[in-house]
Order: sequence, then C-alpha cells, then structure tokens
Amino acid sequence: MTQQTTSSTRPLRVSRAQAPLSGSIRVPGDKSISHRALMFASLAKGTTHISGLLEGEDVLCTAAAMRALGADAVQEGPGQWRVSGPGVGQLKEPDNVLDMGNSGTAARLLSGILASHGMTSVMTGDASLRRRPMKRVMDPLAGTGATFLAREGGRLPMAIRGLADPKPLDYRLPVASAQVKSAVLLAGLNAVGETRVEEPVATRDHTENMLRHFGAEVSVEKTPDGGRIIRLQGRPNLVARDVAVPGDPSSAAFPLVAALLVAGSDITIFGVGLNPLRTGLFTTLQEMGAQLEILNARTEGGESVGDLRVRASALKGVEVPPERAPSMIDEYPVLAVAAAYASGVSRFCGVEELRVKESDRLAATVALLENNGVRTAVEGNDMVVYGTAGHIPGGGKVETHMDHRLAMSASVMGLVAEKPVEIDDTSFIETSFPQYLDLMNSIGAGFVA
Ligand code: S3P
Repeated sequence: MTQQTTSSTRPLRVSRAQAPLSGSIRVPGDKSISHRALMFASLAKGTTHISGLLEGEDVLCTAAAMRALGADAVQEGPGQWRVSGPGVGQLKEPDNVLDMGNSGTAARLLSGILASHGMTSVMTGDASLRRRPMKRVMDPLAGTGATFLAREGGRLPMAIRGLADPKPLDYRLPVASAQVKSAVLLAGLNAVGETRVEEPVATRDHTENMLRHFGAEVSVEKTPDGGRIIRLQGRPNLVARDVAVPGDPSSAAFPLVAALLVAGSDITIFGVGLNPLRTGLFTTLQEMGAQLEILNARTEGGESVGDLRVRASALKGVEVPPERAPSMIDEYPVLAVAAAYASGVSRFCGVEELRVKESDRLAATVALLENNGVRTAVEGNDMVVYGTAGHIPGGGKVETHMDHRLAMSASVMGLVAEKPVEIDDTSFIETSFPQYLDLMNSIGAGFVA
C-alpha cells in the first residue's frame, strides 16, 4: 500500500555521508520504561517523579490516557514528570475514547489495566495500530471475566467491559511477547490471589522490575528450557517511587549502526540502558566484528546503564539464533542495513513476530533492501541478507508504512549507499525519537530535511 503524501508527510532524501561521524550524544529515554513509569505511577499511592521520560508521541498518548483515567500527570521540565494516581482499582471510567496513537505497547498494557477495573472503556489508535492484533491480549484477559468487543480479527477500536473484582490469571504465552506478559500481570494487580505467567523465552522484564520497585511482590523462576515463570501477588500496596529512565537501546541502535558503517567514525552514546533482555543487537554486532565498547557500566534506578563507544568497523555476516529475537526484536530493520553493508551472508532466524509490528516489518525490511539493490530472501521464518561488502547501490524509494524504525533504518542506509535513498515519510520518527534528525546532524550525518 502506498502512503499518500499529505501536508503532514515529511519525505527525506539521504545522500552518502561526506565525512566520518564524530562526537558524543545522548538518546531519548527508553520507550518501554517510559510507558510503564506513567502507568505504574498512576496505580501507586503518592507522587512519583520521573526523570528522563521519553516525550515522543507514543508516550504522550499514554500520559493523556492516564489523565483520562483520573491520574495527575504533569510535565515539570524537559523529561521531568510528576505523576500521582488514584491507585490500583481506583481508576475512573474515561468519558471518551482512549487514543493510543501508534503504540502497541500502550494499547496492550492498558488493556490489562482496563480489564481489571469496573468500567467500560473504548480504545483506538492510528491506522497502523488499528491493523495490529489485539486478540493476543483479549484471549488471556477474558479469563479475568472482562468482556471485549473488537473489530474483525481482534482489531481496534475495541470496547472493554472490565470487572472491579477480576479473577487472577494463570497463562502460558503462546508467543514471546513482553506486551502480552505485561497485560496479564497488570490485570493481576487488582485480582485477589496469585497471577502466574509462563513465557517460553525470556522477554524484556521492565514490568517485573518496576512493579517490584513500586512495592509489589513479584517472583521470577527460570525454567530449564530458557523460559520464565512470573508470579505476582494481587492487590499490592503500590507506593510512589521515583523513576530514572535510561536512554533507549532501541533508539541508540540507529546512530550506533551509522557510526559502524560510515568510514572513520568514532562516537560515544551516553547513558544507554543495558538490561540484558534488550542487548541482543549489541551482542550480534560484536559477533559481526563491531568495535563497540561499553564504558562506565553502572546501575541507575534499578536498570543497568553504560556509555557506548562505537568506531567504524569492517563487519562480516552473522547468524542470529531464534532465541535471541526477543532481546532485539525492534532492531532487525537496522541490523538488516548493517548486514547489507557487511561482507558475507547473514541469517536472522525465527523473526516471524516482525510481521505484526508497526508495519509488517519483515516485508518492509525486505523491500527497503531490495529497492536499494541488496539481495534478500525470506525462508520460512528466517530472513536472509546477502551482504554487499560496502557497496549498497541505493537509489531506491522506501515506503515506511507509518513505521518509525523503518524510516530511521532507511536514513542510516542512505548514509552509506552509493546513490541517495528516498524516504516517503519521516514524520513517524516522532513516536519514539523526537529530534532524531538534529541529533544525527550533530554528529555529522548531514540530513537535509
Ligand atoms: C515492548 C515489547 C515488544 C517491542 C515493543 C515494546 C514492550 O513487543 O517490540 O516495541 O515495551 O513491552 P512484543 O511484546 O509485542 O514483542
């Protein structure tokens, strides 16, 4: 589907970088943690101060939704927010439709909260979010006793009739999804007794960490096959606690890969979150031969954080095992660009979840590469990229399908392709990385918006 150019569409033509990228930058706050901080602070008693909150469009939708549910969420300065909420079980029925914009995380996590409150609510989102499957949360959450009415195929808009006294869930995830796990756990907050979730592969654990931070009793047991069982005791007394949001490793991925590919580059990215369930890209790039050093590793606000020093490197092809996918699920489009520039063949195994992201990211990433002269293949659930050893032809048009990460990946490709890369629309970058173009220009990308 071709997206029509409208007044809010922002096309971009990216030409090869003329000089190495250099300098030090900070990327915006982690998107996953930012959504959770706003939601959980609204469910705690007292006032939470959040620093480093991502102020992208996705997270601002969550703030608006929490306000509509009775929380007080106020910006006090850049990235500084003060949030106080009515607490677990005390949210009020919103008197209008909740619009979650482009964000699957916001929609799915909030479903768990709405299903476990005695109210009726209606949720929608933009055209991308309205195409994404909500059945994966509706199915388990129906076990609380809540009822859902969605469009064909479990798509938004969706109405939720929640219960003030929901049943606790015991659920084994059929897909590795932190969003679904979190929706189940959030519904468990207002249920009497124990909520239990079993995941086949460990996925990001920000919900578990932050619920503990706010005082909930959460236990995690590792299973012999690499999965986890998470148990939450219902009706905890959540108490406000300050949250420091680290830089988003998924956003750091773009300047990081750009610096690896543009000859002679040397950059440092400060304060990047290094939760081990998020760092699959860093491991993979190191396996490809990246000069990527982690400096000043430390713990801030309960999360691991470090500075990344990145120097341009000759990369070789890699095989990424399927069990690593959850720890880098949002990073495959930009990894595909790195693999296209590398020498040799890369294979990303078991990446079927990419089909249900902000766009069908498997198809869109293949198109991004193929339209710029890079050979790819999809074999079952694997994606294969044939590296060009530094000779990406470029000259192609890229359709971003309302997907911020596609737009940023295409811009990185343009910096190293032989001919300029045309991107149909960069406006969705606002969802996760406001000021992306300026920040990249500050290290020498030379993007001309
Ligand atoms: C997220 C989980 C992932 C990821 C998304 C953020 C989260 O989605 O792609 O960007 O914050 O829990 P899934 O859980 O659907 O894999």
